[in-house]
Amino acid sequence: MAHREQWNSQIGFLLAAVGSAIGLGNIWRFSYMAYNYGGGAFLVPYITALVTAGIPLLILEFAMGHERIGSAPLACRRIRPGWEWLGWWAVIFVMFGIVLYYMVVVAWCLDFMVYSLSLAWGSSPDTFFFKDFLQVSSSPAALGGFRMPILAALAVVWFINWGIVYRGISGGIEIANKIFMPTLFVLTCCLVVWAVNLDGAMVGLRAYVTPDFSKIASPRVWIDAYSQIFFTLSLGFGIMIAYASYLPRKSDITRNAVLTALINSGYSLLAGLGVFSVLGFMAVSQGKELSEVVSQSIGLAFVAYPQAISLMPGGRFFGAVFFFCLFVAGISSSISIIEAFTSAIIDKFGFRRAPLVTMIAVAGMAGSLIFATRAGLLWLDIVDHMLTHYGLVVVGIGECILTAWFFNCNFFREHLNSVSSLKLGSWWVIMIRWFIPFVLGIILLSDIVSEIKEPYGGYSWQAMFFIGWLWVLATVAAAVMVARRKWQERPY
Ligand code: PHE
Repeated sequence: MAHREQWNSQIGFLLAAVGSAIGLGNIWRFSYMAYNYGGGAFLVPYITALVTAGIPLLILEFAMGHERIGSAPLACRRIRPGWEWLGWWAVIFVMFGIVLYYMVVVAWCLDFMVYSLSLAWGSSPDTFFFKDFLQVSSSPAALGGFRMPILAALAVVWFINWGIVYRGISGGIEIANKIFMPTLFVLTCCLVVWAVNLDGAMVGLRAYVTPDFSKIASPRVWIDAYSQIFFTLSLGFGIMIAYASYLPRKSDITRNAVLTALINSGYSLLAGLGVFSVLGFMAVSQGKELSEVVSQSIGLAFVAYPQAISLMPGGRFFGAVFFFCLFVAGISSSISIIEAFTSAIIDKFGFRRAPLVTMIAVAGMAGSLIFATRAGLLWLDIVDHMLTHYGLVVVGIGECILTAWFFNCNFFREHLNSVSSLKLGSWWVIMIRWFIPFVLGIILLSDIVSEIKEPYGGYSWQAMFFIGWLWVLATVAAAVMVARRKWQERPY
């Protein structure tokens, strides 16, 4: 019987889980959501979602991987054999969906790190980003060829990912995160201290902490807050299940889950301080209103920031460090999903890691190519919308139903309580059994209703169907097919 790999230390595991959680989602996605939804007011739905769904589900995912000792598909199968497809679907749509475009955004960061040094965007970062850098085409069907700077950076990014995951759990992922995470924390703190001391920072910070409650009355904000919590905690990705399966039996699971969630959200809040200070600085130095300094949410990091970088003393250096932070945060997340997919395949088919990871990296690079074309941003937007709104939430509901309705969730609670220092009460089981599937169900329904009323983001029906829905369906089909294949003789 093959030996399952293990983390070298509990702290190594915690850093890896935090590394997966902290990513572009914390700096780029969190900030533009907070900005769109009235600054401080967004924190109300965000924290509610964290406490009512994020933390209980993170505990559940850790428990599934740890108690059943398997990556997502194996853990699901060991809970109930007919549910193996759910685990496959999670790792497949993330590996051949989310990660493909996520890597492209990490590649943009790498390019922008270099551009910062020469302030390459000149006097109009907006034109630079959309027209010169991305050269966005008129519709998703007009691919219009590759963007070379993106393609080159993308190859570097995939190569680094390959190099880390190739070396396995303790030799690759654990060591990488032990270097990445402290580096990220130190650099982020430096940037935040720098940012809050800029002239006008107070204007931004005031907007960040002063809630505009009129904005949180809309159900949209709540939906986005829940989907942000899923994204930021890497829930429904199959990652946390796989990571927990590499822990020794005696591990403080519940405490690690709570710590991961708190560190992750703490980091988002900290990054938000920096982002809003910079926005305030920009508004004041240009004599504009705060609401006027950012036009498009997606452009927050790549348009508004470059503008600020050009305006501030020492901006070139600030910019390079900022994009380097995004880059590091992105890589520590992307390796986690490559690992989740790799470990699922190893569990099922018993392949050797090295050649397998090489194949996955090559396939991943090939799959990313579409997002490096001139229509890349449009594809990214559609695929991101579909997979984060339908994929992650459905997997979350599926995990609750599987463990609480088709299995005994109390069994997991007892397991957790026998190994952890924080003891879970029966409230946790009630959350998993009733509350979370109910809330996520409502979110899913209202999402579907708004989708039917009007296609997302002003795209055509055709684009949403051929890119968005077909992408979802193809990953479901792939999951069902892989789940039906024969298992290797003895997976551990
Ligand atoms: N938690 C990550 C983030 O916030 C999301 C992610 C994880 C994306 C793994 C890709 C792969 O950025």
